[in-house]
Amino acid sequence: MNRRYRKTIIAGNWKMHKTPSETRQLIDELKPLISKAKWCEVVLCVPYVDIPIALRALKDSPRIAVGAQNMHHEESGAYTGDVSAAMLKDLGVKYVIIGHSERRAYYHETDTLVSRKVHLALRAGLRPIVCVGETLEQRDQGVTLDLITVQVKAALSGVPVEKLRQIVFAYEPIWAIGTGRTATVEQAGEVGASIRATIRKMYGARAARSVTIQYGGSMTASNAHDLLAQLDVDGGLVGGASLKASSFAAIVQAANQ
Ligand code: 13P
Repeated sequence: MNRRYRKTIIAGNWKMHKTPSETRQLIDELKPLISKAKWCEVVLCVPYVDIPIALRALKDSPRIAVGAQNMHHEESGAYTGDVSAAMLKDLGVKYVIIGHSERRAYYHETDTLVSRKVHLALRAGLRPIVCVGETLEQRDQGVTLDLITVQVKAALSGVPVEKLRQIVFAYEPIWAIGTGRTATVEQAGEVGASIRATIRKMYGARAARSVTIQYGGSMTASNAHDLLAQLDVDGGLVGGASLKASSFAAIVQAANQ
């Protein structure tokens, strides 16, 4: 991370875990543990139905923001069961995860769809956390950096430079998600640097250095410190370890050192 130019952001992605009452409980446990987190922004990306209770529980904690895990790619309309960017914004949501590999895999979300969502999120005033990453097969084939360049370019297509700072990228190697197999610090650092190089080519060095690039995939209290020591790893998108107050707080602490 490089705090001089960009924000360090630790985000928890709760996925489909925690009921509203469990949300209240977890946030109540978490708050005192991370109250001293001065040097990084903390985001809790909770299930839609937990958003109101999370916002209420965090009213007195301005440094902890609430995020959503998805949104629809149209502004409004006949999309039964879906949620729009404007709805999230109106509730008080600040961030939204876009293009998580689970959504790409199970809901067939393409780079084109990701791009539409990025535009809609920005228009609504939400900060997109755009997930990119390769499968193990792609890594073995040696196409990781090329593939991620394509994903990054697609997500940024048509985004003006003045909006770029609103976007957060999360490098999430698919083979590291929920597997306990974390990328090495070199792998995370290399892909982070490559994402920034792509942004630099599109927007110039000044704009590129202000973008936060997170790592996600089996991040824990024990590996967070080393991962965050990489220049282009400016935070984490944490799944499993964000579901327990103590393990998530320990990661936030690592980002504060
Ligand atoms: P894990 O931390 O459980 O590997 O999940 C990472 C992730 O997918 C965050 O979005």
